[in-house]
Amino acid sequence: MDKLRSFVVLAAVALGAGAVEAQEFPEGEKIYQKVCRNCHGPKARGVGSFPKLVGFSAEYLADRLKQYRAGETVGPNSALMKPVSVKLSDEEIQDLAGYVANTFP
Ligand code: HEC
Repeated sequence: MDKLRSFVVLAAVALGAGAVEAQEFPEGEKIYQKVCRNCHGPKARGVGSFPKLVGFSAEYLADRLKQYRAGETVGPNSALMKPVSVKLSDEEIQDLAGYVANTFP
């Protein structure tokens, strides 16, 4: 009985891990492709005066987004980031940061 139980648990964990790999940051991807890519570009490499988002850790990106959401000034163009970040929840920021940091190395 115990053996069967641990098999079922292991199988569930393996299946769960596969699902996570396929779609790790679905919410982040959705928001990035709809909102952020307009300024930061399809590969997050920046466009004109809009900065690149590649090469940063998820922690760094999430911290910046929380600063913008709080209305703090980070760089000379922070005013552009305020309206797009105020609507984001903590979960959405985590997902976005994870998506960007893991999708655009
Ligand atoms: C209207 C254009 C625009 C949109 C849309 C936009 N950004 Fe930005 N973003 C900027 C600009 C301009 C800056 C630089 C702001 C500054 O000077 O502080 C910036 C800065 C950032 C930074 C900090 C980069 C650094 O070098 O520290 C992050 C992180 C970021 N944006 C993420 C996002 C995410 C995620 C989204 C989608 C929710 C998004 N941005 C949507 C224009 C935009």
